[in-house]
Amino acid sequence: MNKAIEVALFLHLLGVAVWVGGMVFAHFCLRPALGDLSPQLRLPLWESVFGRFFNWVGVSVLVILISGGFLLTQFGGAHALWPLHTMAGLGIVMMLIFGHIRFAVYPRIRRAVQAQKWPDGARAVATVRRLVLINLVLGVVTIGVAVLSRGF
Ligand code: HEM
Repeated sequence: MNKAIEVALFLHLLGVAVWVGGMVFAHFCLRPALGDLSPQLRLPLWESVFGRFFNWVGVSVLVILISGGFLLTQFGGAHALWPLHTMAGLGIVMMLIFGHIRFAVYPRIRRAVQAQKWPDGARAVATVRRLVLINLVLGVVTIGVAVLSRGF
């Protein structure tokens, strides 16, 4: 394996670790721990947590996209093995879902918190929770498919 491929794979996996690991932490650790807080406390906290986490995910998405695109060219481009195309396809779906969370749903949380409309905010946070769970499942499947490509 040449150096450029090793560096790209390193960055690719770092991006995946930040994104998927962050979703595991948010879904399985932070969410249940905040469950008992009142909406007045919980929703501004989620707004602040999401604001920071989504910046990290945005950078991770760029790194995964650039490193993945480069790796794909090194592993046969259009003629690469099907698991690599499946990974790219699932990765793009995950990125579109993230884009929807970041640019459509998150602004609803911000507006609701600013206007102190707690039921609206709670609905938007519940939507983020569902979409993050979908992305988490897709992320785990994508990692499985990526590793599967080794067996071909
Ligand atoms: C635009 C999206 C993506 C493209 C074009 C892409 C492309 C690639 C390519 C070409 C490789 C090298 C395969 C190899 O070393 O044999 C790779 C490795 C890998 N990718 Fe992706 N990827 C994308 C998104 C993702 C996402 C979203 C995940 C996980 C959530 C992911 C997880 C992995 C893993 C775990 C490996 C290492 C596989 C191994 O070496 O066994 N990729 N990716």
